[in-house]
Amino acid sequence: MTDGILPRTSGTPATDPLTTRPLSDSRGPLGDEIRNDFPLIVSHPDLTYLDSAATSQKPEAVLTAIDRYYRQDNANVHRSLYDLAERSTLAFENSRRTVEYYLNAASHREIIFTRGTTEGLNLLAWSLTELLVKEGDILLVSALEHHSNFVPWQQAAFRKGAELVLIPAFKDGTLDLDFLKILETDGRADRVKVAAVAHISNAFGTVHPVRAISRWCRERGIPLVLDAAQSLPHLPIDARATGADFLAFSGHKVYGPMGSGIVWGREEWLEKMPPWQTGGEMISMVKPEKSTWSELPYKFEAGTPDVAAAVGLAAALNWMRETGVERLEAREHKLERYTYEKLTAIEGLTLYGPADPYRRRGVFSFNLDGIHSHDVAQYLDKAGVAIRSGHHCAQPAMRLMGIPSTARASLAPYNTQADIDRLAKAIIGAQEYFR
Ligand code: ALA
Repeated sequence: MTDGILPRTSGTPATDPLTTRPLSDSRGPLGDEIRNDFPLIVSHPDLTYLDSAATSQKPEAVLTAIDRYYRQDNANVHRSLYDLAERSTLAFENSRRTVEYYLNAASHREIIFTRGTTEGLNLLAWSLTELLVKEGDILLVSALEHHSNFVPWQQAAFRKGAELVLIPAFKDGTLDLDFLKILETDGRADRVKVAAVAHISNAFGTVHPVRAISRWCRERGIPLVLDAAQSLPHLPIDARATGADFLAFSGHKVYGPMGSGIVWGREEWLEKMPPWQTGGEMISMVKPEKSTWSELPYKFEAGTPDVAAAVGLAAALNWMRETGVERLEAREHKLERYTYEKLTAIEGLTLYGPADPYRRRGVFSFNLDGIHSHDVAQYLDKAGVAIRSGHHCAQPAMRLMGIPSTARASLAPYNTQADIDRLAKAIIGAQEYFR
C-alpha cells in the first residue's frame, strides 16, 4: 500500500491487520488536522465524541456527494431511458464498483446494497438457511455476537428445527476456539451448516481470529458469514482474503450515511441462494403461476434502492482511500494505546476485553466500582464527553461476563489525545461525585 489504496492482489492474503506495520504511505502520519474534514466536529469544539462504534461522524466529502446527487442526478434507477435516469443509474452502479474495488470483491455481482448490517444479516440468515438447513442441523455463532448476528440465526434455527450452537468465550472477551475441536470429536461438526461471527466485538473491541475460523469452515465446506460492522471502520479489509464467504457492514459506521449498507458474498453462493425480499426490480419474468429472478446482484435488491445512501457510502470509502486507510489505522492505533494506558491507570475501573492492546480495536468498555454505567454516561455527558452505556445490543455477551451493562468509549480518527485526557478526567470526576 503506497497511497492508501487497498491492494487488489487477489489470492495473496493481506498481512495480519493487527500488527503495527511501519507506515509506508509517503505522506507520513495523519495529524489532528483530519478533524477539519468533519463539519460536526469542527462546529462542536466543546464536544468530545466517543461513540463512533454506534455511529461515526461524516466528512464533508460525504455530505457534498449526497447533496449533489439530489440536486443534480435524482431519478429512479434501472427503469427509464431518459438522460437523468441514466445519470442516476450510473451514480448508483459506480457506487457499487467503488465498494467492489474497496473490498477486493471478484465482481460487482457480489455487492448487494442494503439498509445496514442488520438488514444484511437478516438477508443472509434467511436465504442461507432456506438453501442449506433442515431439521437437526446446526447453526454456529459465537457467544459474543451483537443481537443482529444472533437473533436472525436463532429465529432461523427455530423456523427450521435446527440447533443454535455458540462458540464459547473467555472472561477476557476472546473466543475459545478449542471448542471447534470438541465439535469435531463429538461429531457435531458434521451437522454445522452455516457459521456466523463478528470480526470485531462491538461490546468489548476484541478482534476475533477470523482466518482461523474461516480455515476451519473452508475445510468442511461450511459458509462463513462475517459481521464486519465494527471492523470496516478500523481495518483495511480484503473480503476474499478473510476466507469468509459473506460479510455485512453498515455505511454509517464507516463515515457514510445512515440507512446504507453492504452484503458481500461469493458469487458461487449467491447464485444458488433464494432471494430474501421479492417485488419490483428483482424479477426477470412474472406470470401468475411462476416468477423468475433477475441476475446478481439485483435478485437481492427488491424495490427502489436508496441511491443517495449508496452514493454517500461510496464517497465515504473514497474518502478513506484518499486519506489513506493505512494512515487512518495507524493514527487510531496510536490513540488506542494511549487510551488503554490512561484507562488502566485509573483505580476502581474495570476494563473489559483482552489485556493485550494489540488484540482490540476501537472500543473501550468499562465499569466503575459501585457506579451504574448509565450514571457514568450521564455524568460524562455533563462534562462534554459523549459515550454509550448499556448492554450494547449484546445481552448474551454481557451475561457471560456476569454484568448487566458497561460504559463504552469508542474511537475514530477525529479523536485526539486531548479527548482521551478529557475522558479520563471526567471518569475520575464521576468517581468523586458518586463516592
Ligand atoms: N451496534 C451499534 C453499537 O454497538 C449501534 O453501538
